[in-house]
Amino acid sequence: MTVDRLALAVSLANEAGDLARSLRSDPERLKITEKGPMDLVTAADHAVEALVRNRLADADPAASVLGEEEGRTGVGRACWIVDPIDGTVNFARGTPDWAISIAYFDGKALTVGVIHAPDLGLTAAATRGGKACLNGVEIRLDAARPIGPIVALGYSSRGSLPEYLARIEALLADGIEHRRHGAATIGFLGVLAGWFDAYHEPMLNIWDAAAGLVLIEAAGGIVHHDPVASFLERPSEVLAETGQIAGLRSLLSLEAFGAR
Ligand code: IPD
Ligand code: CA
Ligand code: CA
Repeated sequence: MTVDRLALAVSLANEAGDLARSLRSDPERLKITEKGPMDLVTAADHAVEALVRNRLADADPAASVLGEEEGRTGVGRACWIVDPIDGTVNFARGTPDWAISIAYFDGKALTVGVIHAPDLGLTAAATRGGKACLNGVEIRLDAARPIGPIVALGYSSRGSLPEYLARIEALLADGIEHRRHGAATIGFLGVLAGWFDAYHEPMLNIWDAAAGLVLIEAAGGIVHHDPVASFLERPSEVLAETGQIAGLRSLLSLEAFGAR
């Protein structure tokens, strides 16, 4: 059976978005609980992951799945990588910056990436070596230096607070604005949409990043992260950039902080 994984991921993400929104509309069914510091989970996170897993079991039965809520199931190197709701805190509070993230790793490389942000009306889809599209329109990231550079940042309790604050300081000292939207997927989408010149987070899990990395690379951007084999096992530092801000990687690096 040949599986059109890009089409499958887009249709799953849309179905998942509808389910998440319908569950949020009934606070009784949302059941918000705390997983850890600054980390919520709702009944919608679990329901969306279950839906995606059921659909994948029918449409791509040989593939294994790595999902944020249920971990890795199945065998083999190839796997789907799913964040059922990225930006759960935003989702639970009713702000629009959350998304469903679905990616495919073929055992060697991340090959499919879809981010669907229902409240923003944005869907980005790409294959490795193919096109990156935002709401059906091909995106090519511009190489011209931006006026008013902005870097979107992510921070979680996995990372070091002094290092996060030092990065903000380094950016501001260089005349670069920063934003934090509380959803890595919105950072990646924002780079594609032209809102930001880069997204950076020091300790990101692969389900937060996999789809975004495929999208940014396919659009002609540059991504930096640990090799996928180790990223599947533990968080990695991630930078996804248009390349418009010269020297951004070294500006954000810890070595640079030491030198300050
Ligand atoms: C989190 C968000 C947040 C990022 C964290 C993620 P979740 O995902 O993407 O912006 O900084 O690293 O864990 O918990 O909302 O799926
Ligand atoms: Ca996430
Ligand atoms: Ca999540």
